[in-house]
Amino acid sequence: MSKKITNFSKLTWEKFYKLPLSEKSDFFIKDNVLFDVIYSQQFSKSLLENLFTIASKIRSVAKSKGGHDWLQTLLSHKRAMLYFIQPSTRTFLSFQSACYILGMKVSEIRSTSTSSEIKGESPEDTIRTFSSYADLIIMRHFEPGMAEKAAWILNQTPRPVRIINGGSGKDQHPTQALLDMYTLHLSFQRRGGIDNKTIMMVGDLKRGRTVRSLSYLLRHYKNVNIIYVSPEHLKIEDDIKRFLKKHKIPFIETDSIEKYINEADAVYMTRIQDEYDINKESLDIDYTKFHLTKKLVKQMKKDAIIMHPLPRRKEIDIEIDKDKRAMYWRQERNGMWIRSALIAYMFSIENEILKYQN
Ligand code: CP
Repeated sequence: MSKKITNFSKLTWEKFYKLPLSEKSDFFIKDNVLFDVIYSQQFSKSLLENLFTIASKIRSVAKSKGGHDWLQTLLSHKRAMLYFIQPSTRTFLSFQSACYILGMKVSEIRSTSTSSEIKGESPEDTIRTFSSYADLIIMRHFEPGMAEKAAWILNQTPRPVRIINGGSGKDQHPTQALLDMYTLHLSFQRRGGIDNKTIMMVGDLKRGRTVRSLSYLLRHYKNVNIIYVSPEHLKIEDDIKRFLKKHKIPFIETDSIEKYINEADAVYMTRIQDEYDINKESLDIDYTKFHLTKKLVKQMKKDAIIMHPLPRRKEIDIEIDKDKRAMYWRQERNGMWIRSALIAYMFSIENEILKYQN
């Protein structure tokens, strides 16, 4: 049985970081609401489904000018800092748009070459500085653990500020997992929901943080099967396999898309994450075996969906964009709505939104 720790300030950062999430999850909660979003395992099933409802409501309220203008009054007194020092297009833009939808003012730093880190300021002091100006820090960092460290630092200052992890190295991308789950939820709404579905994840599963975060969230649904398809050297890591076994989620590993594609309800493609290559080791891998071709799509179920966290390279033939099962462009737009919902929930304004009569 895991023991809950009540006085975290007695721990060093190194000790805190090594704790299992079950022992430190309370650290990221204030007044029964998630104050920091660091790991996808922080989302319970009820919170996930609550966020789906809030996201769909925001989407419908924002359709009219009146609703859109009203939403912008809700957090007009709050400021967000987007600290993205690893490249990003859609996570950055969808969070920026989510902040605008709720009326927040937004500042950004997108490279250490334009912050005082270039002058030798530590990431820790940089983050503490952001907390002087912002009520929420959304950050993408190449170092796993840096978003958690930011929460660790700021929760012990007189001005704690909420942190959202927008991608932490090869480790986690919890809000991508949220938008992926929201996309699965919307796509399977008329087919009994996410329960009983088979999800195929293809590509660089070792270094793809989106598949890691998504795997954690699938545990909340009944009778979900996972098919991991990857090159031998890029298989999903053992920590995820241990988690799936512990929660009795069936999964198989293969290097053939073709063998199982007719069983999949969702095919989740990913690109090779060669930015993490130390010695260009992925250059030797024939990644074309992990591309979705028109021939493979013909073998898919008629009502299956194709997902991709994007950006893509050649994993999905652009001709497939015309197929009604291609969900990735809608998936990236869903990110804006679910991220708006997450921010609304974190600032406890979701009930006002849900009560709004459009
Ligand atoms: N899916 C995703 O994280 O995309 P970006 O890297 O463009 O933010």
